[in-house]
Amino acid sequence: MPSLRQEAWYLYRCARLGSAFFRRRLIHCNLQVTYRCNFRCQICDFWKDPHPRSEEFTPEQVRVVGEKLARLGTMIVSLGGGEPLIREDLYQITAILRDTGHFPILITNGWFVNETVAKDILRAGLQEISVSVDYADAARHDAQRGTPGAWDRAVKALELLHRHRPDRRCRVHMISVLMDDNLEDTEKLLRLARDIGVTYYVNLYSSGRGTKSPRLPGSEVQSHLLDLKRRYPEFVSLTSYLESFDQAIREGGIGGCEGGTLFLNVGSGGGVSRCIDTLEDQAGNILTDDVLAIRDRLARLRAEKPCGECWTSCRGFAECMYKAPRARQFAEFYTSVKRR
Ligand SMILES: C[S@@+](CC[C@H](N)C(=O)[O-])C[C@H]1O[C@@H](n2cnc3c(N)ncnc32)[C@H](O)[C@@H]1O
Repeated sequence: MPSLRQEAWYLYRCARLGSAFFRRRLIHCNLQVTYRCNFRCQICDFWKDPHPRSEEFTPEQVRVVGEKLARLGTMIVSLGGGEPLIREDLYQITAILRDTGHFPILITNGWFVNETVAKDILRAGLQEISVSVDYADAARHDAQRGTPGAWDRAVKALELLHRHRPDRRCRVHMISVLMDDNLEDTEKLLRLARDIGVTYYVNLYSSGRGTKSPRLPGSEVQSHLLDLKRRYPEFVSLTSYLESFDQAIREGGIGGCEGGTLFLNVGSGGGVSRCIDTLEDQAGNILTDDVLAIRDRLARLRAEKPCGECWTSCRGFAECMYKAPRARQFAEFYTSVKRR
C-alpha cells in the first residue's frame, strides 16, 4: 500500500501529465542510461562498439537531467539503452527521476532480473516495466538475441516482476518487435502474457540507424493485429498506432514525425537529439546547455529535416494520443495504465 505522501505525489504527477498533454509539451523522453549490453541482437547495433562506463552520466547528473526535463513538461522518462539493468545504480536513477516529478518506465531484456532485482527496481518507483520477447519459442528468440537462455530468463523476469508489483497501478508488459518473420507469433505471445498476468504491446521494426537489414513484415499485418486487439484485452497498443502499420510498411515509415516537439532522446552522456535514429543531429547537451535553447533547436531540427522513416512505438504513443477521436485515445491509454 502506498503511503499518503506517495499517493499525493502520484496524483500530483498525474495532474501534471494531463496538463502537459493538453499543452502539447515534450511529453516523452527516451533516456539512454547506457549503451553497454550483455546481448548481441541481430536487430540492434549498439553492442558492436565499445561504450566506456566513464562516458555515462552519474546519478547526480541524472538529477540535473530530471530537473531540466521537468522544465520542458516532460513527464514520461523511458530508461533504455543498451541494457539498462547492466547499471547497478539504476535503482538510484529511477528514484531520482520519480522525485524530480516524472513517471520513470523501463525496457529490459530481462536477463538480470531475479527476485531481489524485481522487488528493488519496482520499489524504486518504476511506473511501468516492459520485457522484450520477440518470438513464442525459445530457439528463435535466443538466436535473434544472440544469447542462449534469453527467452527463459525473459519469461522468468515477467513472472517475477508481475509477482512483486508493489501497487497494482505499476504496469508490467511484454513487448515484441514486429519483424518479417514473427507475425504468427503474436497470438501465442498474447496467450503467454495472459497466462503470466501481464499486458502486451508491439513495436514496429526500424532500420533507421546503423547498418541494419530491412526486416519490416512483407505482407499486410494491420487487420490481423486489430482483430487480436479486439479479442485480447491484454493487447494494450493503441488502436490508432496499429491502424498505421500497413502504411508504415508500404512507405517505410510514417511522415510528419513529431520527434523534437512531442518527444526527445537524451544519450548516456547528455547529448540531446530528436530520437535514437537521429543521434548525429544534436540539439545540445542537457547537462551543460540551457534547456529552453535545446527545446528551440529541437523544433528547428524538426522543421529543417523532416523525417518519416519509422513507426516505432515510443513515437506512435506520443503522436497517436493527439489523433481523432481523442476520447478513444485517452480511454485506451487509461485502460492500459489503470489498476488491475
Ligand atoms: C534497444 S532496446 C533496449 C532495452 C533492452 N536492452 C531490450 O532489449 O529490451 C529497446 C527496445 O527496442 C527494441 N529494438 C531493438 N532494435 C530495434 C529495431 N531495429 N527496431 C525496433 N525496435 C528495436 C528492443 O527489442 C526493445 O524492445
